[in-house]
Amino acid sequence: MARVFSGVQPTGALHIGNYLGALRQFEAAPGHLYCIVDWHAITEPHDPAQLHRGTLHVASAMIALGLHEESVLFVQSHVPAHVELMWYMTCTGTMGELQRMTQYKAKAKGRRSVSVGLFAYPLLMAADILLYRTEKVPVGEDQRQHVELTRDLAERFNSRFGETFVLPEAVMPPAGARVRSLTKPLEKMSKSDPDPDSKILLLDSPDEIRRKIKKAVTDTGREIRYDPQEKPGISNLLEIQSAFTGEPISKLEEMYAGKTYRELKEQVAEVVVEGLRPLREKMEAIAAHPGEIEGILKEGAEKAAALAEPMLKEVRQKLGFLERLPS
Ligand code: AMP
Ligand code: TRP
Repeated sequence: MARVFSGVQPTGALHIGNYLGALRQFEAAPGHLYCIVDWHAITEPHDPAQLHRGTLHVASAMIALGLHEESVLFVQSHVPAHVELMWYMTCTGTMGELQRMTQYKAKAKGRRSVSVGLFAYPLLMAADILLYRTEKVPVGEDQRQHVELTRDLAERFNSRFGETFVLPEAVMPPAGARVRSLTKPLEKMSKSDPDPDSKILLLDSPDEIRRKIKKAVTDTGREIRYDPQEKPGISNLLEIQSAFTGEPISKLEEMYAGKTYRELKEQVAEVVVEGLRPLREKMEAIAAHPGEIEGILKEGAEKAAALAEPMLKEVRQKLGFLERLPS
């Protein structure tokens, strides 16, 4: 079975973009690894208490999805191998490659100072993926470029030092790979957006979900059709409904012919409320037992570290480092 690896940053409350683009695609199969990437979460100034809470929050979602039962669920900072491999990636990638990353350009734009960590972040992500000989990386559209960079780095390393790394591939869902903000539908829905009405959180109550969708920015005109250029707000709602129900967007367009924006919003709200209900209830139950969450993560870290060690050993050898003394 193809090795799957994916990571989610514990930088804030999870929203339906994280769910539809990433978490929902995560399969609880043996040999798959799901990581809470806390080292990625400090590339921007952060609040330590929030990092701690956020880590348990992301873990509660992964556990609610049952990922710990068959797969390895762990916290990145519990497996130091990730930073060692990152250093090798740092010496493999180039400044030019990192400067071309869309996400970096967007985040650095107009700022006088950004951390080296924000710039180098894709190299840490490459290390996460390559460490486990990953073949498939389920992620949202915004991460496609980082996975492509990972392939380039792996190819470069392999051609310099001999076949070592597996070339990974990003996997994206047919709908929901890029959920847009409810208030600014030209932008993606984002954990870091300070406007609470821009996103639907996995832990939002049914009434909050209904209120936010009712307030969602729509477009001029009255026709309900999928056209992300001309009608980004309506298209986003159609895509959310399609992602939750599995119905193709063309079918939804037929269904909504002659209907009003209000009717669309009411339907979408119900689909989202019901789609999230079981997950929210499980997450709340799990969050009440942080000790159990930590136990699961500890066990996961041991398994991940054992999988990472032979890979690192091979990489050190290929690079010409002297063998370490057994500890
Ligand atoms: P992050 O919050 O950046 O750690 O994202 C975790 C996962 O959710 C990654 O696979 C992202 O690509 C995905 N993701 C984040 N925001 C969205 C969005 N608005 N739509 C779809 N996927 C998303
Ligand atoms: N960079 C990803 C994000 O912001 C999170 C991430 C880190 C990741 N390492 C990864 C995703 C490895 C997939 C595989 O969403």
